[in-house]
Amino acid sequence: MPRQLFVTTALPYANAPFHVGHMMEYIQADIWVRFQRMQGHEVHFVCADDAHGAPIMIAAEKAGKTPQQFVADIAAGRKAYLDGFHIGFDNWHSTDGPENHQLAQDTYRALRKTGLIFTRPVEQFFDPVKQMFLPDRYVKGECPKCGAKDQYGDNCEVCGAVYAPTELKNPYSTLTGATPVMKTSEHHFFQLSSQRCIDFLQEWTQTPGRLQPEVLNKIKEWFVTDEQGHGGLADWDISRDAPYFGIEIPDAPGKYFYVWLDAPIGYLASLKNYFGKIGKDFDAFMADPKTEQAHFIGKDIVYFHTLFWPAMLHFSGRKVPDHVFVHGFITVSGEKMSKSRGTGISPLKYLELGMNAEWLRYYIAAKLNGKVEDVDFNPDDFVARVNSDLVGKYVNIASRAAGFIAKRFGGRLATSRSAEAASLLQALQAARDGIAQLYDDREYGKALREIMALADRVNGYVDTHKPWDLAKQAGQDTPLQEVCSTCIEAFRLLTIYLKPVLPALAAQVEGFLRIEPLRFADADRLLGAHDIGSYQHLMQRVDPKQLDALFEPPAVETPKPGGEDLAPTITIDDFAKVDLRLARIVDAKRVEGSTKLLQLTLDVGEGRTRNVFSGIQSAFAPEDLVGKFTVMVANLAPRKMKFGLSEGMVLAASHADEKSQPGLYLLEPTPGAVPGLRVR
Ligand code: MSP
Ligand code: ZN
Repeated sequence: MPRQLFVTTALPYANAPFHVGHMMEYIQADIWVRFQRMQGHEVHFVCADDAHGAPIMIAAEKAGKTPQQFVADIAAGRKAYLDGFHIGFDNWHSTDGPENHQLAQDTYRALRKTGLIFTRPVEQFFDPVKQMFLPDRYVKGECPKCGAKDQYGDNCEVCGAVYAPTELKNPYSTLTGATPVMKTSEHHFFQLSSQRCIDFLQEWTQTPGRLQPEVLNKIKEWFVTDEQGHGGLADWDISRDAPYFGIEIPDAPGKYFYVWLDAPIGYLASLKNYFGKIGKDFDAFMADPKTEQAHFIGKDIVYFHTLFWPAMLHFSGRKVPDHVFVHGFITVSGEKMSKSRGTGISPLKYLELGMNAEWLRYYIAAKLNGKVEDVDFNPDDFVARVNSDLVGKYVNIASRAAGFIAKRFGGRLATSRSAEAASLLQALQAARDGIAQLYDDREYGKALREIMALADRVNGYVDTHKPWDLAKQAGQDTPLQEVCSTCIEAFRLLTIYLKPVLPALAAQVEGFLRIEPLRFADADRLLGAHDIGSYQHLMQRVDPKQLDALFEPPAVETPKPGGEDLAPTITIDDFAKVDLRLARIVDAKRVEGSTKLLQLTLDVGEGRTRNVFSGIQSAFAPEDLVGKFTVMVANLAPRKMKFGLSEGMVLAASHADEKSQPGLYLLEPTPGAVPGLRVR
């Protein structure tokens, strides 16, 4: 019975290009999808950009774009990664698409009808300058325990204290620097704590086949309430106030769905959008009990996918997910990827260096299992697995045999073979169902180990019969053709088993073997009397130098405060050489014959005044300066100018390029200062 599958990966936030963590998830899902298709099942595999939310709105504003344009620009970069790594999504959509607006609002209306939506006032930080409510991550302040500055609202990076954002001392908005005020607004909630929800979720999560055992164990903890009634499922705040980039809540002006409400609905929206393109009935497909819905996600978003999402679907009268497949995180050389620094490896750089995408697919597959375990990308291990297993064991079989078949036998395979060869091929054929089961269980590492063990047996056979020796001996044509044909038959069987992982290589093999696209069922038969084409080299080995280049430390981005490069680092002693003093401007005059200079008379508390020529005429009227304080470099060697001697320099701030961005700003001390004080 062919299965009817609807498969997704998590929808990536549309505020950054993909990193290797995304690629790992797509590779895991893509292998599963390709495998299911090779079994003859119907699979619809979709994804989309997760477009909404405050961070994307703010990032767009910083980039000077509308959120729509910002998200579209990110989306335009997706194809290079997906094509590059052979990720075969049928559709890529956006949660800001019309289907999602419609589906999210419909879902909400249905939930409201069931009585699971309520509203209640929520008090929250509000930025009075930006006129918006601030998500916690945009509020910083001093740690209430140790007083460390610039700490986020949940915990202190200095002393480790954990607290609520409202406990921060001297809180400020990271968007404007303004002091946030507490403000109340009406929020919409989904009543996850209701007995109806709990009963449904207990049943849904415990239905066999839905979740991995370790995921289920974690979820069970979330249901538990202690004696004081703490813990357990909490109601879910699903609304946000304008300004917000999101989907409007029906009948609630100025209220938007929290991004995590409409994000998973984006799975349905992308499928609906795709079915619109291919003329397939979305509602009929989703109503069909045969349809199996499977989501591939990372371990950080389990709560959303195993509690909120199935509950939303169920209580809005929709089909619930059949499988949520959770994977661990990829680390690089043992290090966690950081959101801000990314990882040591960029997927695009990998491709740009000419590295083969299927090396990475193979390597990641070799490390993946059906559990929620982290996977480490280790460069030495990568080189070893690709070169000794993939190329050394598998590709080598074809390269050792195909040439003789083409050159000596006109491409014709032998049909007769020894009992030994026959039993080798039978063993390879018999492995099919076990390998298929491993793929279905996402035990890719085990599947590949099994396949490589089969390849070892084939290589053992080659080493025993040495076709290169047979080729040199007269009268050995028949054994040579038989041995090489056995190798080709074996190679074809191995290619079937590797095809979910190595789709492009398999396509090349299908080309040179002159066969139809391989499916798992094709392991039933051998090629027999068949003409193959000429062998072309299938895959290079990894050059370890490529990995060095891949890991080259990224050029350190020098910070550019105010758009200007920071000057080279100096020591405190360097700084101490500059004697900065407060000066009072006693007099200021235009300089005859200069459009730039003003002549300043400065009191630096020395019992005499100094004469300084300063290039600030464009920005200040002399009469406005008289009486003001400023800062001067008091130990600068006096300089003889056309107009007289200049005995120092006045400090002013300006843009890097004064021509395109005029503007000069004098430095003034706070009240009470007297001339001659040193700035240190
Ligand atoms: N937008 C949400 C998902 C919404 S789904 C309706 C999101 N986006 S994300 O871009 O942060 O993450 C997308 C997927 O990548 C998630 O499944 C996440 O677990 C996965 N990964 C993020 N970092 C990862 C690794 N380092 N390793 C493996 N997967 C990782 O969450
Ligand atoms: Zn602290």
